[in-house]
Amino acid sequence: MHYVASGSLSLGSLGLLRLFGASWSWSLAVGLGVYLGTGGWRYLYVVVRTAKRDINGLYVLLRVKLALWLHIRNGNTIPSIFSKTVARHPDKPALVYEATGETWTFSQLDQISNAVAHWALSQGWTSGDVVALFMESRPLQVALWLGLAKVGMEAALINFNLRRDSLLHCMGVSASRALVFGAELADAVSEVSFSLSETMVRFSTGDLRPDQMAALKCHPLDSILASAPRHPPSCTVSKGFSDRLFYIYTSGTTGLPKAAIVVHSRYYRIAAFGYHSFRMRPDDIIYDCLPLYHSAGNIMGVGQCLIHGITVVVKKKFSASRFWEDCIKHNCTVVQYIGEICRYLLSQPVRPSERQHQVRLAVGNGLRPSVWEAFVERFGVKQIGEFYGATECNCSIANMDGKVGACGFNSRILPNVYPIRLVKVNEETMELVRDKQGLCVPCRPGEPGLLVGRINQEDPLRRFDGYASQDATRKKIAYNVFKKNDSAYLSGDVLVMDELGYMYFRDRSGDTFRWKGENVSTTEVEGTLSSLLGQTDVAVFGVNVPGVEGKAGMAAIADSTGNFNCNSFLKEVQHALPPYARPIFLRISPCVDTTGTFKIQKTRFQREGYDPRLTTDQIYFLNSRVGRYELVTEELYNAFEDGSISL
Ligand SMILES: *[C@@H]1O[C@H](CO)[C@@H](O)[C@H](O)[C@H]1NC(C)=O
Ligand SMILES: *[C@@H]1O[C@H](CO)[C@@H](O)[C@H](O)[C@H]1NC(C)=O
Ligand SMILES: *[C@@H]1O[C@H](CO)[C@@H](O)[C@H](O)[C@H]1NC(C)=O
Ligand SMILES: *[C@@H]1O[C@H](CO)[C@@H](O)[C@H](O)[C@H]1NC(C)=O
Repeated sequence: MHYVASGSLSLGSLGLLRLFGASWSWSLAVGLGVYLGTGGWRYLYVVVRTAKRDINGLYVLLRVKLALWLHIRNGNTIPSIFSKTVARHPDKPALVYEATGETWTFSQLDQISNAVAHWALSQGWTSGDVVALFMESRPLQVALWLGLAKVGMEAALINFNLRRDSLLHCMGVSASRALVFGAELADAVSEVSFSLSETMVRFSTGDLRPDQMAALKCHPLDSILASAPRHPPSCTVSKGFSDRLFYIYTSGTTGLPKAAIVVHSRYYRIAAFGYHSFRMRPDDIIYDCLPLYHSAGNIMGVGQCLIHGITVVVKKKFSASRFWEDCIKHNCTVVQYIGEICRYLLSQPVRPSERQHQVRLAVGNGLRPSVWEAFVERFGVKQIGEFYGATECNCSIANMDGKVGACGFNSRILPNVYPIRLVKVNEETMELVRDKQGLCVPCRPGEPGLLVGRINQEDPLRRFDGYASQDATRKKIAYNVFKKNDSAYLSGDVLVMDELGYMYFRDRSGDTFRWKGENVSTTEVEGTLSSLLGQTDVAVFGVNVPGVEGKAGMAAIADSTGNFNCNSFLKEVQHALPPYARPIFLRISPCVDTTGTFKIQKTRFQREGYDPRLTTDQIYFLNSRVGRYELVTEELYNAFEDGSISL
């Protein structure tokens, strides 16, 4: 019995319990013996520090599970839950469109989505048909997918930043019967118009001239909806909580976007998990400036409107300069963010409005510790609700108690209540490390590992609905993870857990490079450089230099002013970063490419490297002998390439 032999403490506690002569104490003693024997007082310390957090987490989990169970038992769907919300307060504002100030009450949103349902039926579409929605964020987008769901149809929510091949790809994988696009995207549609299937009927919303409509062969949706009936559609669909609601495209780190299936229960779960984890209230007003084609904007944000009856302000596009004014104007109490948004807000000049708002809670993900504290302090937002969870994964975690930098936690006391784990992985290939039995190796605190979630198709909290593509689904599932013959979802993200069970984000795979025998984290260096430069956009990546081991760090820095000073920058870098992490190459660019959600895109920069012939941007290299950055000319570039100058 290893637990008896493992330490005098456990022997002592066993002896003590024996003295009382109670046989019931045997199992308790075994438990205590194991705990005390394997780290004794540290364990008690962990229990004391985390019991309150864990009880709260357990309460949230049970509430969401109970609600899910009731909805399944009662045969509910998102539209039927929404109709109960409407009945509670038909005249309360549901969605406010920031761009026009237009407000839809719950009953108006209900009626417009009914009109959508009638339009869909009149087209002869049926349950299971898919319609692609391609438009900038607006309340109509919500009415469209909700209306389609009322008659059992599914929307494919397409990223409005996509063009050409990736746009065609997304429409293709969803097998859409029709396309509804916003007038603002007419050019993007016309670019792919000839490659679109003739059978895909097109509708536009917004102002297009008759000649534009004719060229794009589209029908005006707004006038069709205006004349459609407003009463609930008569057809009854036999859709349930486990059926498909819509598709969201997730951008992997590699390859084209994948269509993730969102079923009704998943929509409910994400929204309810956020609502309870962060203690939102029915009278909150949410400022939603995230795109509605992602789950953060459309589920974590809009879901609070449909399910919990919260008013949501929909912003067409994020604006750093308008952010706090908008919150004041609409009396918002909750804002949504992604880390980059917080950084942009911090880079704004100080305005009185930034402290005159009533925002109590900011919900989102990707807030780095350096930005987190500055954000809380400067803007006076009391609570940060950081969470982690991909649209399609069942392994969401949330930071419910505001621990700075953590994206969530798992209980150390009862780790099996929520079956997520960090398991060892080869961070370069992202292959799972297996033990002799072929099972995965769990990480200890402090050891980075891949976040995986056990799959249990019976439990809606832990279902995995996969992607529209079977092949994409297969790649995200591993077998024999926790025990033989089980299966688990692979999140693809590497996290670290501390002793108390708080989880911290590590870089996405591929975000480190080796230089001088050290692993350089690009996100860490980006964070440091960006805060040195007043939170400007910075992209850091490694580039190959012939004849040199590892990769040399390169930073692309956005500078629209044109007076970037390399040498004062270098002085600050020398204070802030260890020698191996300092960028060897700099590229000063008027702007840095970002995705629709402001994630910095490095692929182009990485491809172009430090070759001055490929760009008009200035490229510098750190000459460590003289301790300053020097312009990379074509001659210097050639000298690097043929190895006549070494770094
Ligand atoms: C915001 O709150 C104030 C004071 O309660 C109220 O007068 C105002 O009408 C509200 N504004 C909006 C847009 O609801
Ligand atoms: C993760 O997704 C899989 C796929 O269905 C599911 O079986 C599993 O229970 C989920 N795990 C968690 C922790 O939600
Ligand atoms: C796993 O599945 C195999 C094949 O279906 C079966 O023979 C084996 O007994 C199972 N093992 C466990 C531990 O369930
Ligand atoms: C760098 O990362 C590799 C691969 O993950 C690892 O094997 C190595 O120990 C790390 N080196 C340092 C210095 O952290």
